[in-house]
Amino acid sequence: MAFEDVCKQSLIAEGELVPCMAGKKEIVILWPEGGEPKAYDARCPHEGVSLGRGDFNGRILYCIAHGWVFDGRNGHCLQPSGWCMKEYPMRLERGMVQVDLAQD
Ligand code: FES
Repeated sequence: MAFEDVCKQSLIAEGELVPCMAGKKEIVILWPEGGEPKAYDARCPHEGVSLGRGDFNGRILYCIAHGWVFDGRNGHCLQPSGWCMKEYPMRLERGMVQVDLAQD
């Protein structure tokens, strides 16, 4: 495990998407309504367009490129099915959001 700071905890909020950089990698912090914040690779599993510019309504994330639809609670692609956003371990520590990219 090698957690690193990606943004202040005060910048994330329930129902919102926050794009961040971890070194040269773009990630997104998704905090679905009624759920827990999670960290995902920002590259859409379709063609790699940034999901940091996606449209998140608090439950569902839409990729702006071709309209793939993701469940904000678990990153699973709802349309088309069978795909998933890549999730990274995340924690809140000392007022910071920390993500572990060691698996890359
Ligand atoms: S790159 Fe996201 S739907 Fe095509």
